[in-house]
Amino acid sequence: MGEARSNIPALNHPHVFPLELRKKFNLPSIFYVDLYPVTQSAVFVLDPDVGAEVTADPTMWKHPAFTDHLAPLTGPVNLLLSDGPQWKKQRAMFNPGFSPQHIMSQLPVIIDVAEEFVRALERRADANKVFRLEEEATKISIDVIGRIVLDHDFRSFTTTNEFFDAMRKALSWMPDTQSFNPFHRKNPIRPFAFRHYKRRMDNYIGNVLDERFKVRDANLPKKARKKSSIDLALEAYFKESGQDIDSQIATMDPEFRQSAIDNMLILLFAGHDTTASTICYCYHMLAQHPDHAARLRKELDDVFGAGINAAEKLRQDPYLINKCEYMAAIIKETLRLWSPGSTIRQGRKDYFLKDPDTGEMLPTEGLMVWPVLQSMHRDPHYWGPDAHLFNPSRFLPENIDKITPNAFRPFEKGPRICIGQEVANVELKVVLALTVREFDIRAAYDELDALANDGSLWAAWRGSKSGLQEYYGDPMYQVLMFSAKPREGMPARITRRGSTKA
Ligand code: HEM
Repeated sequence: MGEARSNIPALNHPHVFPLELRKKFNLPSIFYVDLYPVTQSAVFVLDPDVGAEVTADPTMWKHPAFTDHLAPLTGPVNLLLSDGPQWKKQRAMFNPGFSPQHIMSQLPVIIDVAEEFVRALERRADANKVFRLEEEATKISIDVIGRIVLDHDFRSFTTTNEFFDAMRKALSWMPDTQSFNPFHRKNPIRPFAFRHYKRRMDNYIGNVLDERFKVRDANLPKKARKKSSIDLALEAYFKESGQDIDSQIATMDPEFRQSAIDNMLILLFAGHDTTASTICYCYHMLAQHPDHAARLRKELDDVFGAGINAAEKLRQDPYLINKCEYMAAIIKETLRLWSPGSTIRQGRKDYFLKDPDTGEMLPTEGLMVWPVLQSMHRDPHYWGPDAHLFNPSRFLPENIDKITPNAFRPFEKGPRICIGQEVANVELKVVLALTVREFDIRAAYDELDALANDGSLWAAWRGSKSGLQEYYGDPMYQVLMFSAKPREGMPARITRRGSTKA
């Protein structure tokens, strides 16, 4: 184990570790690892098809390690953590608000928020100081989810938002699951800290829900009612509780209220940092590969017009965004190399994995079953000898058939595939369309010390500065904090290119 860890940083997200083990010891695509005393032992699945079978099976429930990690912040009963009929009911309730057509109809809202992001980047460029890009990217992701999922404006760019503050502080209390330090793992203060911040988040979201309950679209015909998650949850509640949605004396029972709050929290948590992290890695990849950045800028000029700001063009014709094929390939290749999400399922006595080479039935009882998507994404068995290289052409239409089936799965596969993937994809495309011709953004890890006391979540977090600090030569390795985030929130430098008009 130690040997395989030697070429990855101590705080690197563990999802790269199975690939290192496989390479070091020439292991098959499914293997067992004893992880005691850090956590429960696991079977790592690096075979794409077997991984897809695991996630396709609705009876393969989430592993308690996953639930225990997140439930203190988001409650145990919500779309991400529930299983069985409870999950099915919630998924059916929220699906309409995440359909591709609905998300495309929300494009003007996403553009509005992205323009706030552009203004924030302009301020950063004018200040000419190193800053943490992940902080700004988190604001756009939270505001997009707020606007299109909760129909609520968090105004993260222009105000100090109570929810945003509580959420970032709560994240800074996330346990480091790789730590061997018993005090860290059983830190007695953590449950109190989580409870405090959860209460603050609950109060905020509870108020948003109560407001919505008062002014629900009761009098509108069904088709005209909003499809934000908060409205869909209320609509389902009225139906189930047998109350008339038009009634002035309708009441909300406390159990429903808490589960609605927890679902809103999970949508915010699961959606914001995955997308924010991907925004950071897109810029990082473009800065490291000027040839691909130039090709993307040329594509944007071709689609939106040279020297023309993309926002207005997109408002007139939202479907222009789908003409940017190279941009879509860049986003996919970034997600391949730097996936932020993952899933871990619970092994069972009656559940076996079929070894793809030997046909042997492999037991899973008492184990974490982890289809390790990030390890699959960089495994040369599926991506060839240049698996660690950034090469967006892999995802161009002419090459797409060459990709090993099921080997690319940043949003996972099966019935529990990410419900927010369309939100994330559209947001990422709009962000890149509005910024890559306007700015040069690069990571500035050489200036990290200047940010040591910037009051951010990262300054409070225990970042490691000793030992190896690069993953395959890259100082921006991923760390585990809810999802996989760029180390130290991507210290960055930004300059204006001034190549389009506002
Ligand atoms: C680049 C961005 C994103 C990535 C890579 C990503 C990745 C994932 C992955 C891998 C899962 C499967 C987790 C599991 O099975 O345990 C998942 C589930 C989920 N994601 Fe995302 N996600 C992203 C953005 C979003 C957004 C924007 C939202 C909401 C607005 C969201 C909400 C959810 C929810 C609620 C689930 C649970 C779905 C279910 O179990 O039915 N995600 N995501």
